[in-house]
Amino acid sequence: MAILFDSTNRLFTLQTDHNMYQMKADRYGVLLHTWFGMKGSAFDYSYRIAYADRGFSGNPYDAGDDRTYSLDALPQEFPAYGSGDYRSSALKVRYPDGTSACDLRYLKHEIRAGKYSLPGLPALYDEAQNSDTLIITLEDIRRMFYVHLYYGVMEDLDIITRAVCVENHSNEDIYLENIQSVCVDYLYGDFDLHTFYGRHVKERNCQRTPVRHGIQSVGSTRGTSSHQYNPFLILSNHDTTEDNGSCYGFSFLYSGDFIGSAELDQYDQTRFLLGIHPDNFCYCVKPQERFYSPEAAMAYSDHGLGKLSRIFHRAYRNHLCRGKWTTTRRPVLLNDWEGVYFDFDGDKLIQMAKDASELGIELFVMDDGWFGKRDLDVSGLGDWVVNEKKLGCTLKEISDQIHALGLQFGIWFEPEGINEDSDLYREHPEWAMQIPGKLPTRSRQQLLLDFSREDVRDYIFTHICQVLDSARIEYLKWDLNRSLSDLYSAVLPRERQGEVMHRYVLGLYDMLEKLINRYPDMLIEGCSGGGGRFDAGMLYYTPQIWCSDDTDAIERLSIQYGTSFGYPVSTMGSHVSHCPNEQTRRIAPLNTRATVAMSGTFGYELDVNKMSEEEKEIVKTQIQEFKEYYDLIQYGDYYRLTNPDAVEAYHGWEFAAPDGSEALLCIVALQIHPNGPGRWMRLKGLKKDSIYTVDGKEYAGDVLMNGGLLLPTATEEYESFRIHIVENH
Ligand code: GLA
Repeated sequence: MAILFDSTNRLFTLQTDHNMYQMKADRYGVLLHTWFGMKGSAFDYSYRIAYADRGFSGNPYDAGDDRTYSLDALPQEFPAYGSGDYRSSALKVRYPDGTSACDLRYLKHEIRAGKYSLPGLPALYDEAQNSDTLIITLEDIRRMFYVHLYYGVMEDLDIITRAVCVENHSNEDIYLENIQSVCVDYLYGDFDLHTFYGRHVKERNCQRTPVRHGIQSVGSTRGTSSHQYNPFLILSNHDTTEDNGSCYGFSFLYSGDFIGSAELDQYDQTRFLLGIHPDNFCYCVKPQERFYSPEAAMAYSDHGLGKLSRIFHRAYRNHLCRGKWTTTRRPVLLNDWEGVYFDFDGDKLIQMAKDASELGIELFVMDDGWFGKRDLDVSGLGDWVVNEKKLGCTLKEISDQIHALGLQFGIWFEPEGINEDSDLYREHPEWAMQIPGKLPTRSRQQLLLDFSREDVRDYIFTHICQVLDSARIEYLKWDLNRSLSDLYSAVLPRERQGEVMHRYVLGLYDMLEKLINRYPDMLIEGCSGGGGRFDAGMLYYTPQIWCSDDTDAIERLSIQYGTSFGYPVSTMGSHVSHCPNEQTRRIAPLNTRATVAMSGTFGYELDVNKMSEEEKEIVKTQIQEFKEYYDLIQYGDYYRLTNPDAVEAYHGWEFAAPDGSEALLCIVALQIHPNGPGRWMRLKGLKKDSIYTVDGKEYAGDVLMNGGLLLPTATEEYESFRIHIVENH
């Protein structure tokens, strides 16, 4: 059992293969956090806490005249607002009398075999049952509600998950104004905080800053996890590198508003919090009801950021993504968007599919523009009726012809969106999210449907199913092209309007779950103007997400690099597009565009008809090559070798078989210089005593990892190389 309970000391020790997490209910029943880090003996780590009389940091009443006991200074597992701890808190409740001061004490606990799941929310799962669950129940000192702290200990994954449930056992309503899923109190404070920031077409850039006194936070109040900040954060030592040093990763399995913060307090202790952003959140919990916070996953690495990422990659590939597409090879696709945008008819699509089939592409995706009145992005959203006039045929006819070419068929939806110029809006303007008496904020000239409403979701679901049932469709792209605003739901009373953002996300999950249940074999790709909702919550429903609307291979190096810190390659939608690139006008070699797109869920997004015969031949070999390397890329261990944003001439990354028997080294030359120096790249993840062959030459594994491989000289800007390294037998 990975969860140890020492009843004498009321000490909980959670152990994974390499890590350990510890809490203790102290003499007042306060749940203290005592350890998170390397695995060791299940010793009581609370000996490290220094008690002292702390001026202006008060003492709880039950501590009597003990002036050395102050919640303001103690490392706590789940600090509540108003307890005398003036740091950021994990919980703020408004009681029926309008006050908010709260204090929580240990009541009981339960240890269960297996990993818990959460009603209506994404959660890591473990079918092999190598996980256990601990539920610690705290009670508020006024005896109105319980706080159940859930811990999933995923032993061989080195992951600990958390979620919080508040249960109202009084006769009156209480309001949750803030509930964080994670709080980790470190007794010391000398960390860097790593966050991933960006914007539309430039997501997940890395930022690393020392944690200073005060609160540093990133988050989203956009109703989606957002392009701007990602709900994956890292705390590390200042000297932690890719391969060395300590670091902690925190990932929120949620697709709406979030906040992640680090606070260095007056005693140089660090508090880390991650949960729903409180700005758009106030949730009424009725008597006898329970509220569940979304899950967060935490991991520790004593071998740098690379190992930390690989812990998340493994867990998300196999224990978050679900269903057939976890283990089944995903098809190489052609998406028509950058090829034709809105300008197509059925014949043009069939011709594109025909050209694609000759190259070895396996799935043809019809993107935006096939429904309602939709020849531009200003109308038609909400009208999920096939525009047969535009297509010149039925959807079934298109799908049948595409299947006759040996391809699968996929289709784009934006289920949450609505244009004012749509039949749906004309019929049901009250279904769009907008506040009576206030003109709404438009974005891409569209509004959003109130997905917190079941009737609205049911309507959209029915219409989407009608389309999906009318033809053979194996893939669905679920897009969302704006942030939420004007939060209001016509069916909720005044005092519950603060629930709309969260209910919207629950509604989204509910509909995705229904879709998966009805079409278990369909591959669903998430998207929000590229990577605006690239988070672990969505991955529970959509095993791949379009990583960015920026398809420029060189821009993609940074985007995919930043994304790789928290998410596996198998989740990153990535396509080869035309050059000059649509977003940047940059020209990068076709080979390089493929090198980058292969390091994701590989596909093309262009009009094959516009390619030369020579290019088509190259594409054929690229697809074959991708299929050969599929397992290595999609299921192998991913190593970042350089940072594309650092001034390095060559950028490299690598996929290594988990057993070290082969590797694929990917290199892109970011700068070329005539008469330049030699360049080497040190490989990782090989067996040091084995002999490997690279391009007909033999090397020992330790030589490749220590001395590195001498790289070919690039003779063209952005030239790339894919180098296969194979162990001799
Ligand atoms: C978003 C997506 C694109 C494409 C367009 C269609 O921007 O990210 O891939 O589907 O919408 O309107």
